[in-house]
Amino acid sequence: MQLFAFISLLTAVRAIVVPAVDSSGHFHSPVPLDVAPQGKNVTINGVLTYVSLPKGKFDPTIAVLMLTDVFGLPSPDNLVLADQWAAAGFATFAPDYLNGDALPTGGNITAWAVNHGEAQTTPPLLAVVSALKSRGVKQIATTGYCFGGLYTTRLVQNNTIAVGTMAHPSSLNVPTDFELVKAQSHVPVEINNAELDTGFTPALAVETDGVLGDGQYPPGYFRRQFDGVGHGFAVRANASDPVQVAAKQGAFDTSLAFIKKHLK
Ligand SMILES: *[C@@H]1O[C@H](CO)[C@@H](O)[C@H](O)[C@H]1NC(C)=O
Ligand SMILES: *[C@@H]1O[C@H](CO)[C@@H](O)[C@H](O)[C@H]1NC(C)=O
Ligand SMILES: *[C@@H]1O[C@H](CO)[C@@H](O)[C@H](O)[C@H]1NC(C)=O
Ligand SMILES: *[C@@H]1O[C@H](CO)[C@@H](O)[C@H](O)[C@H]1NC(C)=O
Repeated sequence: MQLFAFISLLTAVRAIVVPAVDSSGHFHSPVPLDVAPQGKNVTINGVLTYVSLPKGKFDPTIAVLMLTDVFGLPSPDNLVLADQWAAAGFATFAPDYLNGDALPTGGNITAWAVNHGEAQTTPPLLAVVSALKSRGVKQIATTGYCFGGLYTTRLVQNNTIAVGTMAHPSSLNVPTDFELVKAQSHVPVEINNAELDTGFTPALAVETDGVLGDGQYPPGYFRRQFDGVGHGFAVRANASDPVQVAAKQGAFDTSLAFIKKHLK
């Protein structure tokens, strides 16, 4: 008992909250995107949601819930990413859980974050989740980017979804949040991280493996690191940089394969 308490104390002392990476640390495409968003903005249960549907037939009992970064729906990169999920065969929903107040490019993330805690962010997120469920969606696959990584983790912890993937997560607590996943969840988790991320660093990624890796999490865990890229790489890539382009596509493919493997 005493030893256990001591170990818990050590863990608590080591636990750190992954800092949000400043806006200047995010790459924004220098060239306009050459593809226009294919989806539509729809109000679902009072929440503005970007909805992108596959062109062909799809299973309406499955949905991808895409949790964007702090740049939200005003960022075309996020909409085009949602379209990529739709093109992979999934009805895709990206709720505006930033309450109409996405961070502008170059905005001050520290000041912005004051009004974007869990108290403000969770209600619109759960409003869309419950609407999807009441419309017959049986399995939600969540894919979260940066800020969305924390909320993907919460949905995993709460067993709200069928499978969760995230890229360069921020604002969650390592290792505590993953210990909570291990203790109470049955939802498979996948993480794409960047070698050059100053928030969810490779060291924190390895620490996460220490909690969930090596078969310690029977529902399923996979992590892949992408070298030569930084925070935000799974959302935005410099089209002239083949390393960034390949990493962004690799992150998508890795999450997609994990989701397909774990949906029933
Ligand atoms: C959806 O809404 C966002 C946020 O208001 C806006 O920036 C975006 O252009 C809209 N997209 C579409 C396809 O209407
Ligand atoms: C960003 O906002 C924080 C909190 O309001 C403030 O302390 C800081 O000086 C601001 N940073 C910049 C670069 O304006
Ligand atoms: C998860 O559950 C906790 C504890 O009940 C709750 O406070 C939180 O709002 C939930 N978050 C999400 C995203 O479901
Ligand atoms: C994009 O990549 C090209 C080729 O590596 C480089 O010359 C350019 O500076 C990059 N642009 C940005 C904004 O990083």
